[in-house]
Amino acid sequence: MLWTIFLLLNGLLILVLIYSSRTRQKNEPPLDKGLIPWLGHALEFGKDAAKFLARMKDKHGDIFTVCVAGHYVTVLLDPNSFDGVLNDTICLDFSRSKKQLLEKIFCLQLPSIKPTAERKWMEQHFRGLNLSKLNSSMSVHLQNLLLSDQKCCSPSQWTKDGLFSLCYSLLFRAGYLTLFEKQENASVVYEEFRKFDHLLTKLARCSLKRGESQIATLSRERLWELLSPNCLNSESESKSWQQSYHHFLQQEGADAEMQKRAFLLQLWTTQCNAGPSAFWLLGFLLTHPEAMEAVKTEIRGLNLQNPHTDPLKAHNTPVFDSVLSETLRLTAAVMISREVVQDKILRMASGQEYHLRRGDRVCLFPFLSPQNDPLIHQQPESFKYDRFLNEDMTVRDKFYKDGKRLKYHTVPWGAGRNICVGKDFAVSAIKQFVFLFLTHLDLELCDPEAKLPPVNTSRYGFGMLQPDGDLQIRYRLKRTQHEM
Ligand code: HEM
Ligand SMILES: *[C@@H]1O[C@H](CO)[C@@H](O)[C@H](O)[C@H]1NC(C)=O
Ligand SMILES: *[C@@H]1O[C@H](CO)[C@@H](O)[C@H](O)[C@H]1NC(C)=O
Ligand SMILES: *[C@@H]1O[C@H](CO)[C@@H](O)[C@H](O)[C@H]1NC(C)=O
Ligand SMILES: *[C@@H]1O[C@H](CO)[C@@H](O)[C@H](O)[C@H]1NC(C)=O
Ligand SMILES: *[C@@H]1O[C@H](CO)[C@@H](O)[C@H](O)[C@H]1NC(C)=O
Repeated sequence: MLWTIFLLLNGLLILVLIYSSRTRQKNEPPLDKGLIPWLGHALEFGKDAAKFLARMKDKHGDIFTVCVAGHYVTVLLDPNSFDGVLNDTICLDFSRSKKQLLEKIFCLQLPSIKPTAERKWMEQHFRGLNLSKLNSSMSVHLQNLLLSDQKCCSPSQWTKDGLFSLCYSLLFRAGYLTLFEKQENASVVYEEFRKFDHLLTKLARCSLKRGESQIATLSRERLWELLSPNCLNSESESKSWQQSYHHFLQQEGADAEMQKRAFLLQLWTTQCNAGPSAFWLLGFLLTHPEAMEAVKTEIRGLNLQNPHTDPLKAHNTPVFDSVLSETLRLTAAVMISREVVQDKILRMASGQEYHLRRGDRVCLFPFLSPQNDPLIHQQPESFKYDRFLNEDMTVRDKFYKDGKRLKYHTVPWGAGRNICVGKDFAVSAIKQFVFLFLTHLDLELCDPEAKLPPVNTSRYGFGMLQPDGDLQIRYRLKRTQHEM
């Protein structure tokens, strides 16, 4: 017994020595290992990555290396230098750590499928005529869900709800019906998905408590069953996106079990961001009356009476576009991460060069910079609906840091080779949703003084942020449509 303890302690000691022995070499970024061996800054990082990285930025500047749960992660926060990471496909690799993550969260392994093949397949479904069909299908489903089978459908009675659950539920179900075309169980899938989504960041960080672990496992299995292609509605004459994806998986040689699991990954990728972004957008409008008025004025100017022109296609909506960009600037928080597979010299925009060690990771966190960088966006913490508008009502896309025009001034959709495939579809869906809401419903805060809830800080790095709590609103059908 004593011997075992002795050996264990020795082993631990050696581990500690190995991990704490790393020192900063010449030409390497500042190194911050934290106080706890091996774990390093993992706890602080998981709790609130934005706060932690902002602290590190103040201490070390635009580039530094931190120790997080046994990994050394070099964080780059100068948007003018992003291309040095994004362009490098030889020394930097993104597929390996993504694979590990998919296995942890979705128990998914697709060894036979090349990421580039899957991406190509995705791209062709979200452009051109295919995108057009998805656009119109989404529009029909949104109208049906909001106007036909809602309890809200009376002009005389207010319905109370949380804005977040209302937006997430509607956009999720409409998106699900559009892509998965399994008509019956949209609400069941939604409820189950929310349970899973709630535990997702903990799954990724392996920090589930025992009870939660069980819930996550059950929920995942339930979703696999609900999404399973066996119960696909095969009579529909045109192939749905899901059927087509199923076909792709079969062609690429994925086995039946993995096919089933891949659908949950796709459900998550395609449905987890739109709902939360619509929530933040409407939430900002409701708490900023001047912005709401500007958007409504813009909608009134559109030719909505003519049924033959699609208003979204026929008209520019620069105010809405600016509101959306501003919303995403404040609430989209992707982390772009690469593994260093060969030693690399990273050249910064300033000309300074840094050595990156093989085996480390590199990570961009655009939420901090450019998106919340006071050198780029004045008063970055406040919502300014016209931040992305020029005087002449065109889209503003010229932003500067240190006198240099930025290629990346806001990065909600990611960047480089895994930039969001569904961007155009997402923008269109959110726009349809918001316009439908504002033209057909009276919508107001239950408490006129209410503020937006704070963000749930555990979701930094996982795409769209979610609120901690909800914003209570009430709504009813307008007596005459388009009267705003
Ligand atoms: C506001 C809504 C959305 C935001 C902010 C968003 C953001 C992102 C981001 C940041 C990524 C890159 C993830 C990474 O680097 O690991 C991504 C990937 C992706 N998104 Fe979106 N997304 C949104 C909506 C959608 C929608 C509606 C769809 C499809 C219906 C979609 C489909 C995809 C796909 C397929 C990928 C994977 C691309 C790849 O792995 O190469 N997204 N999205
Ligand atoms: C990265 O690639 C983009 C487009 O391919 C190019 O415009 C840019 O100059 C490249 N930047 C660097 C630093 O290699
Ligand atoms: C639309 O999707 C089909 C597969 O369902 C594909 O064959 C076709 O090339 C796509 N169209 C475009 C314009 O990418
Ligand atoms: C879908 O809608 C978006 C936004 O309204 C628009 O930009 C896009 O052109 C539409 N796509 C097609 C193919 O109709
Ligand atoms: C899904 O819908 C079908 C048909 O409405 C129903 O029979 C089935 O029980 C539903 N499944 C779940 C899990 O609720
Ligand atoms: C914040 O998000 C995490 C992960 O989704 C979740 O476990 C936690 O309960 C959330 N916090 C609140 C207060 O909702």
